[in-house]
Amino acid sequence: MSANFRVALKKVVDYSYDIEIGETLFNSLIEDLKRGIVENVSKFAVITDSKVEALYGQALLEQMIQNGFHAELFSFPAGEKSKTRETKAQLEDQLLSRSYGRDCCIIAVGGGAVTDLGGFLAGTFGRGVPSLNYATTLLAAADASIGGKTGVNTPVATNLIGVFHQPKKVYIDLAAWRTLPVRELRSGLAETIKHACIADAGFFEFLERNMDKVVSSEGELVLDREVCEQIALHNCEIKYSVVEKDELENNLRQILNLGHTAGRALEALSGYELLHGEAIAIGLAIQVRLAEQMGFVSSDEKLRVIALLQKAGLPTEIPATITDRMLIDKMYTDKKCVMGLYGLCSKRE
Ligand code: GLY
Repeated sequence: MSANFRVALKKVVDYSYDIEIGETLFNSLIEDLKRGIVENVSKFAVITDSKVEALYGQALLEQMIQNGFHAELFSFPAGEKSKTRETKAQLEDQLLSRSYGRDCCIIAVGGGAVTDLGGFLAGTFGRGVPSLNYATTLLAAADASIGGKTGVNTPVATNLIGVFHQPKKVYIDLAAWRTLPVRELRSGLAETIKHACIADAGFFEFLERNMDKVVSSEGELVLDREVCEQIALHNCEIKYSVVEKDELENNLRQILNLGHTAGRALEALSGYELLHGEAIAIGLAIQVRLAEQMGFVSSDEKLRVIALLQKAGLPTEIPATITDRMLIDKMYTDKKCVMGLYGLCSKRE
């Protein structure tokens, strides 16, 4: 004999949100808070890193306090190396020690590492609290801050631990791109070129025509306002055309990982000396060469992808310190490896 109790838990959710693209959007964020963009919140945690803190985190905090919001700043050392479970735990302990609870909202201000970590924190703190992303880099604007993927790196591989947690709104501050070192800006261009390769030949041609209006061949930031706005807009359009169909990456969303299988492995193998976008650029070059060999793209298309990456000042060759064996072994730890993270690895010699 057994008894059965059926748990009826059907859910209809609407995670729709706006992405605002413009320059210096603190006023807009404050107005949104006043309008109640997040409900039942009495405390705000501004999460940022040691580089963005002085540039944006502190200024936003002051503006929030001036406007009567209860807010505090929590900062961690800048860089992908800090995007770990340990940093997340430290931030959680800091929030708890400041009596943050389920009535808080996380505002992640920074680049991809900040929005990934801040979003993951929001997705699990008190079993989930609302969050806003204020993206200050092209990489965050193109990819990390939009789409709801959050997570941290582990010694095994990047972004292995995380949750899907959609923000309530994303702010893309184009003015912040002017504060970026050119390497960081280029890193974001890799994700942009990835989007063009996936979905939009017209956008790819636009990038071919306008790359020098973003960054000159001598490595100067040009950042033409209109071109940057188009880049931000197209990145959102392309990414969301996929995310709206497959939010949880059951299938289609995997195309957003173009170049990432080798790219993520290279990023980890370089000890994060390669920036995320630099590693993805090499991953894209590997993949397009493979695609030509397999007959999916023409030789001309391959050359155009590699030329565009190079025009953006991105690397397209595997660093000499990383052997093919190292790369292949690391790729088995990729999230998409269907035979399991360790199962396959442990079965190989
Ligand atoms: N970065 C790939 C994705 O968001 O699915």
